[in-house]
Amino acid sequence: MQRKFDPKVFQLGYVALGTADLERTRAHYVETLGLTETARDSDGSAYLSIGFNHHEIVLRPTLDQSLPILGFQLKPHVTIAEFAREAQEFGLSATIKSDSQPGISELVEVEGPGGNVLQFYSQIETPAPGFPNGGAPLLRLGHVAVITAEADKLVQFYQDFLGFWYTDDIGGIARFLTCNRDHHVVNIVGAPFSRVHHIAFELKGTPDHITAADALRAAGIDQLWGPARHTAGHNIAGYHYDPNRVMVEFYTEMDVFIPELGIQEPRPWHEQSPMKPQSWPMQQMNAWGAEFGFNLATA
Ligand SMILES: [Fe+2]
Repeated sequence: MQRKFDPKVFQLGYVALGTADLERTRAHYVETLGLTETARDSDGSAYLSIGFNHHEIVLRPTLDQSLPILGFQLKPHVTIAEFAREAQEFGLSATIKSDSQPGISELVEVEGPGGNVLQFYSQIETPAPGFPNGGAPLLRLGHVAVITAEADKLVQFYQDFLGFWYTDDIGGIARFLTCNRDHHVVNIVGAPFSRVHHIAFELKGTPDHITAADALRAAGIDQLWGPARHTAGHNIAGYHYDPNRVMVEFYTEMDVFIPELGIQEPRPWHEQSPMKPQSWPMQQMNAWGAEFGFNLATA
C-alpha cells in the first residue's frame, strides 16, 4: 500500500460515455435501469440522474465507443485553481472550464496518461428527481474500469498525483484503486488498446440482484456473468451489456477499505484475516468456484 497523502478527491461523480445510437442507449438507462434525464445539451448529449445529483451518466453522440470521461468530486479544501496548478506542475494539461456542462458551473479538465480525460469539480447541482420504483433498484454509481495501453502511467497518476490507495489486483492485469472506503473507485486494466471496460452501480441490497435481473430479462437482456461473489473486493456482482456494448455491473456487499489500517473491514466470507491488499489469481475471480464467463481483458 502506498500512502503519501490523502486523496484530492472523495468520489467518482459521473461517467460520460460516447454512443453511436444515443436514443437506444438512453432508453436502456432510463427505462430499464430507472435513471432520470435531467438535461440535454445543444449537441444532443443526455444527462441522467440516479436520484439526487444532476447526473451520474452522460451519453454523448459519437460514432465510436471511445474512452469515457470520468468526473471526480474534489474534497472541500481543494480549490479548482489550486488543483489546476498542481496538475500542471505534475506535467499534465489542465484547463479550467466554466458552464461547459449542465449542472456543473466550473470544473478543471485534465488529460491523463493514455488519452484518459478526467474532470474535477467542487459542486454539482442536486435537482433530486427521486429514485423511481420501477427498473433496476440502483443506489449509486460506484466505480469504473478502464482498459488502457498506458496502465502503469495511469496507475501512477492516480496514486502519485491524486493520492489513491492500491487495494488489490488480479493477475497484475487489473489494478484496483480507491479514494474513499469503497474497495475500488477505479479499476485499471492493462491491454494493448484503450476503452471503457465496465461501469458499476451499487444496488440497494443483495436481494435486489433478483429484481435487477428480472428487469433486464423483461427488456430482453441476458446476464453475461453472475450474480456471484468476486474474490478481489468480495462484491456480489452481475454483468450485462448496454446497447452500446459497454459492460454494466450491478453490485452489493463490496469490501470496505480502512485506509488507516491498510486492510478491508473484516467480513465472514473473507479467505484471510486480516484481509490485506494482494494479487489474486486470474483463474479465481469467483469466490464460489463457478467459471468466470468472460475474459477480463477482452470482454
Ligand atoms: Fe467492477
